[in-house]
Amino acid sequence: MHCNPSVLSGHFKIATQFLASFMSRRSHSTSPSPRPQKRAKLDHLTQEDFKNGVFLAPMVRSGALPTRLFALKHGATLVWGPEIVDKAILHATREVDPETGVISYNGVSRAIFTTHPIEKPYLIYQIGSADPELAVQAAKTVLQDISGVDLNCGCPKPFSTHAGMGAALLTNPDLLCSILSALRKEMPPNITVTAKIRLLPSQEDTLKLVERIINTGISALTVHCRTRNMREKDAALIERLRGIVNFVEGMGGGIAVIENGDCKGWEDAKRVQEVTGAHSVMIARGAESNPSCFSSNPLKDVERTLVPSYLRVSQYLQNHWSLTKFCVNQFKGIRVEVTKAESHELHQTLSQAKGYGYMKDVMGPATGKEDFQEIVNSIEEISPREHRMLVEEQSLASESAPPEPTARADSPNLPLRDMQDEIVTPEGTQNPEPPGSGAPFLPSETSKVYATIPGRDATTPTPSGSLSLASM
Ligand SMILES: Cc1cc2nc3c(=O)[nH]c(=O)nc-3n(C[C@H](O)[C@H](O)[C@H](O)COP(=O)(O)O)c2cc1C
Repeated sequence: MHCNPSVLSGHFKIATQFLASFMSRRSHSTSPSPRPQKRAKLDHLTQEDFKNGVFLAPMVRSGALPTRLFALKHGATLVWGPEIVDKAILHATREVDPETGVISYNGVSRAIFTTHPIEKPYLIYQIGSADPELAVQAAKTVLQDISGVDLNCGCPKPFSTHAGMGAALLTNPDLLCSILSALRKEMPPNITVTAKIRLLPSQEDTLKLVERIINTGISALTVHCRTRNMREKDAALIERLRGIVNFVEGMGGGIAVIENGDCKGWEDAKRVQEVTGAHSVMIARGAESNPSCFSSNPLKDVERTLVPSYLRVSQYLQNHWSLTKFCVNQFKGIRVEVTKAESHELHQTLSQAKGYGYMKDVMGPATGKEDFQEIVNSIEEISPREHRMLVEEQSLASESAPPEPTARADSPNLPLRDMQDEIVTPEGTQNPEPPGSGAPFLPSETSKVYATIPGRDATTPTPSGSLSLASM
């Protein structure tokens, strides 16, 4: 590892202490204890927003609008939309439903992407692309409704890789980086640019790739801790992430590394963070099973506590029935009062249902409008800045010792500061600190940290079901 171990171990100690204190605070976030004075709000994400969070992963089909909203309601810090191939969105027509506020990007026969203004401060739009220009055009198409764009560099499915997209980009770093650079150059400063990769078989090659990616000026990097050939049933190699986190911290730009792979929920995120040192954790299948997994107290008996409300909200938002049915089918959680027979009966009813009307008995008399309002209220109750678990940047800048720039993957003996001219920080970048400025990622005093949390997008070429998608 080409980094300064003593500096880094110090930072990890601080990080661990901070996260322990932070997480316990977040667990009790509904208590009325007075909060430290708030800073002025930013209306857009910064690279700090990618730290100290637990995020909803991008999921084709399973990451539909209602799921993202429930995830936010239950404490997800940021939510990624499902991967949408660049060309798919280019000719979509944007329509706003005056009743619900739902924004649909409609293709010829279906909605390519749906969103709602309430999720905009937390929404990262994921692009599948193998072309810088198309990626930029796609991002520009949805710009007004999102906070960040993410490039999918991890999907190993042939429909993605045959066109040079997804995991194919991992072995074409020139193209990968040219897409990220183009996005960073063409996006306004208030839109973050991030990437989601998989591990390469060798750690050394992974670090070389990571270095190039970070140098494009991205705001955060998600690492799905599996290689391209690994399937979701293979345990994620999360222990490999610490070396990557160390390396990125050694680069000194304060860029967050987000762990992805095998995290089950909020409690489990502590374990993952401890093992990996990651700045944040991203959850896919845990949230697919139970979108409330972001809470310190996730819903039990989802058949009663989640399914009826999810169906009502989905109907109210006119989420396509087949998509809703697919998502509800994935829900499962700890059963306390619900019997196996009750759960089985629900799934039987669902499997025979051809529309929301068939689920009336499950949904009950309430309309989804009230459930939706509840979601809106809980998202609005906690300001976006708090919701994102931000750290106090001023204290970061003034009170913490910056990590010593160390080295680069291909030239371990060349200090990073010698390569800083190569780091391109677009003018007016959203990054509060230009890459290489040495901004630390955590404060030295935990008391300087504030913030906590409250407690019809079938989009991409998706030939197969969720299990195979999990390997994206
Ligand atoms: C149903 C489903 C759809 C997925 N779609 C995407 C996607 O659109 N883009 C992406 O980068 N990864 C996608 N993935 C992969 C996840 O984001 C994540 O990397 C993977 O499931 C590992 O995380 P986990 O162990 O928490 O499930 C998908 C996974 C699942 C289960």
